[in-house]
This record gives sequence, structure tokens and C-alpha cells, in this order.
Amino acid sequence: MNLSTFISPLALAALLCPFAGTLHASPAAAATAPSVAAVHATEKGGTFTTGDKVFLLNGEPFVIKAAELHYPRIPRPYWEHRIKMCKALGMNTICLYVFWNIHEPQEDQFDFTGDNDVAAFCRLAQKNGMYVIVRPGPYVCAEWEMGGLPWWLLKKKDIRLREQDPYFMERVRKFENEVGKQLAPLTIQNGGPIIMVQVENEYGSYGVDKAYVSAIRDIVREAGFDKVTLFQCDWASNFTNNGLDDLVWTMNFGTGANIDEQFRRLGELRPNAPKMCSEFWSGWFDKWGAHHETRPAKAMVDNIDEMLSKGISFSLYMTHGGTSFGHWAGANSPGFAPDVTSYDYDAPINEYGAATPKYYELRNLLQKYSDKKLPAVPKPVADTIRVPQFALTEFAPLLCGIDTTVKSREVMCFEDLDLGWGAAVYTTSLPEVKGQSLLTLNDCHDYAIVYINGKEVGRIDRVKNERSLTLPPIAAGSEMTVVLEAMGRINFGRAIKDYKGITSSVTLSAEVDGDEVTWNLKDWTISTLPDDYATALKAFDRAAAGQKPQTALQGNAGYYRGSFNLKRTGDTFLNFASWGKGQVYVNGHAVGRIWSIGPQQTLYVPGCWLKKGSNEVIVLDVTGPQQTVCFGQAHPELDQLQLSTPTTHRKPGETLDTSKLPLAAQGAFKAGNGWQTVSLDAPRKGRYVAIEGLNAHDGKEVAAIAELYVLDAAGKRLSREPWTVKYADSEDAENGNKTADKVYDLQESTYWSTVAGTAFPHVVVIDLGSEQTVTGIDYLPRAEQGAPAGIKDYKIYVY
Ligand code: GLA
Ligand code: CA
Repeated sequence: MNLSTFISPLALAALLCPFAGTLHASPAAAATAPSVAAVHATEKGGTFTTGDKVFLLNGEPFVIKAAELHYPRIPRPYWEHRIKMCKALGMNTICLYVFWNIHEPQEDQFDFTGDNDVAAFCRLAQKNGMYVIVRPGPYVCAEWEMGGLPWWLLKKKDIRLREQDPYFMERVRKFENEVGKQLAPLTIQNGGPIIMVQVENEYGSYGVDKAYVSAIRDIVREAGFDKVTLFQCDWASNFTNNGLDDLVWTMNFGTGANIDEQFRRLGELRPNAPKMCSEFWSGWFDKWGAHHETRPAKAMVDNIDEMLSKGISFSLYMTHGGTSFGHWAGANSPGFAPDVTSYDYDAPINEYGAATPKYYELRNLLQKYSDKKLPAVPKPVADTIRVPQFALTEFAPLLCGIDTTVKSREVMCFEDLDLGWGAAVYTTSLPEVKGQSLLTLNDCHDYAIVYINGKEVGRIDRVKNERSLTLPPIAAGSEMTVVLEAMGRINFGRAIKDYKGITSSVTLSAEVDGDEVTWNLKDWTISTLPDDYATALKAFDRAAAGQKPQTALQGNAGYYRGSFNLKRTGDTFLNFASWGKGQVYVNGHAVGRIWSIGPQQTLYVPGCWLKKGSNEVIVLDVTGPQQTVCFGQAHPELDQLQLSTPTTHRKPGETLDTSKLPLAAQGAFKAGNGWQTVSLDAPRKGRYVAIEGLNAHDGKEVAAIAELYVLDAAGKRLSREPWTVKYADSEDAENGNKTADKVYDLQESTYWSTVAGTAFPHVVVIDLGSEQTVTGIDYLPRAEQGAPAGIKDYKIYVY
């Protein structure tokens, strides 16, 4: 059979030689073989510096048009195709993070080979005439597990992440040195494509600590990046907090932003510095339980046009987002908002590498700013194919996957169990309780299914801020089993120190003979269920050998295996809408997390991981499926929510009568962009803060707020970690997900918006989680030019 009949030449090349497109077959060969760079301009080494208001490439003014791509989010055989797509879009540079946790999965075990060969990725970029910007962290955010930090750092309980903790800094130094070994030879000075290297990442949204950022800069320099230009990226609202005098400063902001406003402060402080938007957000990421995010193409293209017309450099984050395969998707905070598997990002090049209408609109623009005709848009590496429905009939009970088991007086978190990802099973005996009781997991990270004597009694979901569950009467001699599944570790804000499992204690409270009694549950049997392919295979082997787990859990949680046959391979999207929650492996590749709530219902399976003949699919489902069938579709389903409660916060028929609330302040916000502070006349005590907008500066009916802080007795911003939305009269959840929780998601580019056409007044009520003394608020309207839907007259209530 002639393979090429069914597979495009590029995919064929990739199949035959996984290193297609590079001349180097291995890192060892790379050291001796002539550099690919030899065929390109920078062979002898060049320079990239800053001049008067411009970047200088080999002494000539240069505007960076960078495309952000993440190599672990793209299967290696497709790397070159995606780079060529960026080139044909009109970009001249690839911008990438280096993801520490994929390169050092265990302490001191470094891996820069195969899919992790970031140097090969950079050489591919160079081979295609692209420069490279490298962002080696150590922290990268990126909606990636723990922001790129390895989970094993958390084994040191008192570690201070992203601070000058001696252990943290020692590990950072080791990692950056390894990055240096890979990439320092590829800086422009050495004849490679790398023109700039970033120090840390948006440190301003984490803290104020110039000493730490300086130490990271020095580590990066000492790792071999001593001649290449170093830069810092941050937000216009906070970049001065950690800005180092000797680094280039760049700004991050999203589609629709007011460009002049974003660079105003930089222009004042460094009038002769070149300007660059180091992350211009083309779209946005999706979280489980909320609609798919989109951003309009026109606003993106107009902003880029404006930047280029002003000689401003940019990196389009993301130009192609790809997929957070396996367990690599992170989670956002405040609160706990795990990200979906797809990182489509509504980017110009979609998740599977195809050009979208946004791509062509941007390409038309970039053609105007290019002196050469742009190369033709490459054909897809693979066709998209459908797979007829097939059943996953082979089953192994969940607990057949158990790896290690320990007995412990106290509960233990994953990290103490030496478990990075997956689930843990906690079992203990319960006291007899005649009436109802309240079970509390302190804390539940992240999703617990609770069984008593093998029968499910309920679930605790961290996404919903839950920690407790009401239990039915408990008979004497009962045993409780908690299956606790972790999702990605938080990748943003202070909450990145995100231990998994049950992190401190478990209590049971009940009324006994008129007294409130609390038991601190002890003496646990704790088993680990790692979420890897080998464990799944072991579970099937055990089940086939007739081995039964010690505890039999009712229901159908477990491992399912099936297969489908292909005559020709191609990219496909396997639909898991009828399944529960867990992980999927296709031919041994961990393709990602599934969760019936959506919005993502299909998983991208790249054709290069499929084969002619039989293809194996394994689903690890910790809650159990509705139906054990699956099929492949030719297009992804990224926006199908299957929720029992809506994502908006107003209950049917509920209307808040603010005339009954205690007024704490009233006045008018200023028009225009930027933060504003409102002080209350006197400190007020209350758990709820209501902001009521009476009208908008633009005279229209819509109200919007991008970010909100509440100030405490000392005038400091209260932690937003415990915040939830109590009420919002109107939320535009259908057009790009503008629900009220966006006022405290720590992102200045996302916002709460009311539905167009619903009349003022508009009101949002924040539940602070507990009673606080409130002295004022910090308010940020939308970041777009003229702050659309900015509230004019306001009233604030605290109660
Ligand atoms: C910030 C981070 C990125 C990414 C974006 C949102 O800009 O620097 O890593 O998390 O937010 O997608
Ligand atoms: Ca926001």
C-alpha cells in the first residue's frame, strides 16, 4: 500500500522521519553538524539592539511582527507547518515560552529531546527565515499547569515561589542553565535566530520585588544569555513596580485596547525607547463551565494596523494556540477556574492549524506592511476526518488503577504522596450518626466523589467554591471512600502554590443529643491513581486477570477501552459529550481532559498520532459515562455547555431593590480609560458590596466593568480569593462570555458587560466571603479607546 495516497507529503515526511525539516537527528549530532543557520542571513552572528525609538537588527530599524506559538501545544511533526503558517501570515518572528515542568519532570532529570526539543523548534523557525523571541520563565503563566513551574517544588512546604527563596532560586538557576545549554548557542550573536530573551513574566501581577526580578535577570545572563537583548513584559498599569533600568520594557494588552493609552506612561518615562506590545491577545482562553471566548477580528486587525502605522512592534498571543494535551492545562484564580484542553484561543490559526477568517483579514493587513509578496498559505498537513461511532466496551473499575497505598493518621496531599497528577483515593471509617451530618474537606483540590460503603452520597466541586457535603444518617461500622481528582494547578496570581488532594484535614459535624459535635477524621488508607497511560493498561490487565479492588464502588467510574479502524489517517475531533470527567489516551498519547459540563465536548486528535488499521482509545472516567460510545467529527465542538445551572448570577424572577440597601457612596466616575479610586464617606462594615450604575458616559444602555477591588480599613485592596458574585441584574454570557466574575479575574482586558438593550440602572453585588470593613473601591473601566460602556453616575452600597 502506498502511504502517500492517503497522507499529504509533509505528514508523510514527518512519519518517515520525526525530525523532518531539521538537519539534526539528535542533540549530539547538532553539536557537530553544520548549523542550519548557515543557509541564512545571520550565519556569522548579528546584533539586535535598541536605537532611538526603534529596535535595530544588524544596525537597521526593525519592527517585530511576532507570532506566539507553544511547541508543547503542537505535535512535533506539525511544528514546521505552523511556523510556515505564521510566515505566510506576514510575521517575521516566533515568540515562545520555555516550559520548565515539561523539561524537568522530576528534580534533576532534564529532557530536551523529541517533543521537548525546543532548540530544534528554534532551528526550524530559523530555517524558515523567522527570528525567535524566547521567554524562559521560570514562570510563564500561559494557562499551563502551575504556570510552568514543576509540581515537585511544592514538596518543600515552606517554599516561596517566585521569590528569593534559596531553594527556589537554586532550582531556577539549574533549569535556566540547562535552557542556556540548549538555546544560548542560538542567539543572534552566535548566528542563531534568537533576538530577545524575556526575564520572568508579568511580575507586576504577582508582586513588587525588584531584587527578585534582578536575581532572575542575572541567572538568565549567567546561563549564557549575556549578549542578547533582555526584556521584561508587564501591564501598563503596573510595569514600573518591577521595571529594571537595564532591561527593555514591553507592554501586554488585548484586542480593542487604547494603544496610545497603553504606551503613555512608557513614553513619559523612556521617551526614546522602542515600543512593543509583547502580548497582544488575539482572543482568550476558555475555562470549564463557561462559554467559549471570542474576540472580533476587526478590532484585532485595527489595533495591529494602528501599532504598525506607529512603528510599534508586537507579538500576537496567540497566533496559533494549539492544545494543552494530557494534564498540562492550568487553572485561573481568584477562585478556581480550570482551563479546558483546547487552547484554540480564537487565534488566527485555529487549534488544528487551519487558517480562519481572522487569519486572512490579518494577512491582508500584514501584506501592506511587507515589502515582499507574502508566501502562499500552506496547505493543511492533514485532512480532517470523521470517525463513525464506536463503543468502548472493555471496562476496568476505577480502583484497578491503584498504584501505591499508604496508611496515615492524617490525610495527605498529592505532593506528599509523590503524586503529580491524577487522583487519590482516601478511605476511613466513620462514626455512627443518626441524623444528617456535614462533611468538610479542608480543602478539596479539586473534585471529590464521596462514597459511603461503596455507594455515592455526593460530590464536592472546588470550581463551585464547595468544601462541604451534607451526609445522610451513617450506620455503625461505615466506611467512607473519597475519590479525589485533581485538575491543573493554578497558573496565575499568588494561588499558584496549589497543593492537590485533601490538603489539611477532614471533619464531620453533627448534632448529637442537642450538642454540636465535630470529629476530626483520622487513620486513613490513601491510594494513588496516577493519570498516565501505563496505569490505565495496568488497570485493564488486573481486571482481565479477575483481580478485584478491595473496595467496590457502585456506579460506572473506571477505565474504558475501545478502538476504531482507519483506511486513511487525518486530524479528527473525538466527541465525549456522553462521558463524565477524566482523561483520554489515543494510541498511548494523552490527548487531554474531558468534562461533560463543557464548553469543550471534543478532543483534538492529530492525524500524526493515528494510524491505518486499528486505533486504541482509552477513557479514564472518574465519575462514569452516560453512554460508552464515541465518534470523530471533522470540526471541534468548543462551545456546548451541559450545565444544570446557568453561568449567570441572577436567579429566575430575582430583582434586587437597591432602595432598601444602605448607601455608602455616590458620585460620578470620570470618563476615559484607567483606574479610579472612590472613597466612602465613612468606613462601612458588610459582607456584600453593590455597585450600581445609573447611566453610561456614552449615553447607551450598556454598563461594563473590567476590574474591581474593595479597599479595607487601611485603604489596602482586600484579597479577592474568597469572592463570588451574589447578583448581577444583567450579564452578556452569549457574546464572548462577559459574566460578572470578570470584574475580579485579575485580567484588565476581560470585563462584565450587561446585555445590550437592557435598561439602566445596572447593578453587580460582590460577596466578599465574610464581613469586612470597607473604605472604598478601585474601579477599572474597559481598556478600549474611550472606555466603552463606562459607568457615569454610580451608587455604592455595603451591607
Ligand atoms: C498573560 C500571560 C500569558 C497568558 C495571558 C492570557 O499575559 O503573560 O502567559 O497567561 O496572560 O492568556
Ligand atoms: Ca477582568
